[in-house]
Formats: sequence, structure tokens, C-alpha cells
Amino acid sequence: MRVLVTGGAGFIGSHFAERLLKAGEDVVVLDLLTYAGDEANVPQRVEFRRGDVASKADVEAVGEFDAIVNFAAESHVDRSILGPHDFARTDVLGALALAEVARERDVRLVQVSTDEVYGDVTEPAAEKAPLRPSSPYSAAKAGGDLQVLAAVRTYGLDACVTRGSNTYGPRQYPEKLIPLFVTNALDGEPLPLYGDGRQVRDWLHVEDHCAAIELVLREGAPGEVYNAGAGEEHENVELAHRILGLTGADPSLLRHVEDRPGHDRRYSLDSSKLRALGWKPEKAFDKGLEETVDWYRENRAWWKPRKSGEYRAYYERQYAERLR
Ligand code: NAD
Ligand code: TYD
Repeated sequence: MRVLVTGGAGFIGSHFAERLLKAGEDVVVLDLLTYAGDEANVPQRVEFRRGDVASKADVEAVGEFDAIVNFAAESHVDRSILGPHDFARTDVLGALALAEVARERDVRLVQVSTDEVYGDVTEPAAEKAPLRPSSPYSAAKAGGDLQVLAAVRTYGLDACVTRGSNTYGPRQYPEKLIPLFVTNALDGEPLPLYGDGRQVRDWLHVEDHCAAIELVLREGAPGEVYNAGAGEEHENVELAHRILGLTGADPSLLRHVEDRPGHDRRYSLDSSKLRALGWKPEKAFDKGLEETVDWYRENRAWWKPRKSGEYRAYYERQYAERLR
């Protein structure tokens, strides 16, 4: 199979491209290389094209392929609050353009989505739970999912949607909670914990997330949505203390700061449908977190440059007032 992996220069997409290569598939990556994307993340032996998923012409220019797996997105909630337009463009219109190309070529599309589309939950959400996105990011992701699912119903597109939970592991851009707190702790910088820090996220290792997506690509039923959560629910404050312990940083670096507007208290997924298809997470959170901290400790050369330039301007805007 030749698989088009869109957003394959980012965090999860680059791990997925690596995984498909190991499985003996042929991979082509299409990525716009926004601040979050870097061609250096794309594994060697993978063909790389720079382009925009929201442009049908850019997608068509890639040439032949047998399936599309769409990771391309604006992906950070805090940035979506500062400016939502790029999110609507890439996450909704990108999914729409890919659905159109997949339909015209009669190839399978896997739309990689997120547990955040269900919004704040008190019980684990199954795939039929209502979509109640809280942030401009999750609203845009929900819009992308709905475009893909509508194309299945209306045009008979062969597509599935995956909804994974908060993902962590090597090569995650240092704006998300785990890589931000780990790299700040390693640098002796403050760890800005939003609000009371009692929000709960369900943490999924990137390899387990990619295994879920691969299974759906190969065996998912057309038109179906599959949740993928590891059942590793932890409060942010607990996670922050674990990171302080694993990095050996001074606990006084932990700072409670002004909350994120609209902040969801809890995400939680019922993943029994995907488990019935044969998926189960392999990496225990304790071990995965320890290995991830080790990776950031040993790969300063990867993340140091990513915390300069545009990142500094974003960091100032997001945190300067909060940390004053
Ligand atoms: P990321 O921000 O690390 O990577 C996104 C990639 O998409 C980058 O390489 C970027 O350059 C590229 N991109 C952005 N706009 C584009 C455009 N218009 N055209 C082509 N490429 C474009 O994100 P990630 O954390 O790897 O997430 C990948 C996908 O998985 C996203 O769709 C996200 O919604 C979903 N997801 C992420 C998580 C998580 O915790 N990180 C959890 C569940 C689902
Ligand atoms: P994040 O990694 O941004 O993922 P998401 O918002 O998509 O779940 O944040 C995970 C949790 O950590 C979320 O509850 C917000 C919180 N958080 C902080 O407390 N401080 C921070 O600086 C960041 C980035 C996140």
C-alpha cells in the first residue's frame, strides 16, 4: 500500500509514518510545515511534499496513493483561544478537501480526531455520545469529523474517524502539557499549572495511539468512529509532581496560574469498540512517562531550538502575565 500521511512532519504523524514503514508499506507525507511541523521529524525513506491539506490542488499534486491518514491540524487549545481562524481552515476545510480527493479516487480516508470533541464529561464517552466541543480547537476538529462522516453517508466515501485521548511521547512540540513541563523542569523554569490543577486527562502513549490508527486503517468498518483511550486518567497536579520527581527539579517551580478560559475538567473515553477489534494499549503510563522524560533529557538538541524564535513570542503572550 502507498499511504498518504498528512501532517506527517508533526508529532503523532511522524511516529505513524515510521510505523507504516516498519510494516513494509510505502509512505508519502504531505505537510505545510507550520511552526509545529519539521521535515527533520519525517523518517528517512519517506517521500516528503510540502503543501496545504486545505488546498485540493496540493493534495492532488502528491500523485498516486491507496489511502489517506489525516493528522494535519492546528492542534493546540491555547493557541486556538488566541486565534481560531487557522483552526477552522485547516481542521475543517482540510478534512473536507481530503474527503473530496479520497472520494474522487475511491481510496480510504482515516480522519484522526480527538476525545476533546465530546467536551467535558462525567462518565466515559462512547462513540455515540453527543459532540459538545468547548474550545475553538475542538469545535474545528468536530467540524472536520462531521464533514468526513457526511461524505460517507452522502457520497459513499470509504472513511473512518479515530478519537484518541491526550497523547505523549518523544518529539511532541513543547507547547503541550507534558513536553512543556518536562523541558521547563529540565531548564529550571516555572511549571505553569492552570487553575486548581485538578483537571483530568486520559494519557495515551504515541505508539499505542498509532497502533489504534493502523488497526482502523486496515480493519475499521466504513463510516464508523473508534475511540482510543488508555484508561490512564490522572489529574494535572499529580502529573506535574511526577515530572518534578522524574527530572529532579525543585518542587517550588510549580506555580498555580490563571486558568484557561472554558477549560474542560475531564476527558474520558469508552474504548470498548476498538478493543473488540483487537486493540489494547501496551505501555503503562509510569513506564511511558519515565521513558519520555529520559528522551527529553537526552535530546536537548531537538527541543532547544524549538523553544526559541516564534515560540518565545507565543510563550510571552500565553504565560508572561500569568507568571508575573
Ligand atoms: P502537531 O501539531 O504536532 O502536528 C500537526 C502537523 O500538521 C504539523 O506537522 C503541521 O505542520 C501540519 N499542518 C498544520 N496545518 C497544515 C495544513 N494546513 N496542511 C498540511 N499540514 C499542516 O499535532 P499532533 O499532536 O501530532 O496531532 C496530530 C493529529 O492528532 C491532529 O489532528 C490532532 O487533532 C490529533 N490528536 C492529537 C492528540 C494529542 O494529544 N497530541 C490527541 C488526539 C488527537
Ligand atoms: P494540553 O497538553 O494543552 O492538552 P489538552 O488541553 O488538549 O487536554 O493540556 C493538558 C492539560 O494540562 C489541560 O487540562 C490543560 C493543562 N495545562 C496546564 O495546566 N498548563 C499548561 O501550561 C498547559 C499547556 C496545559
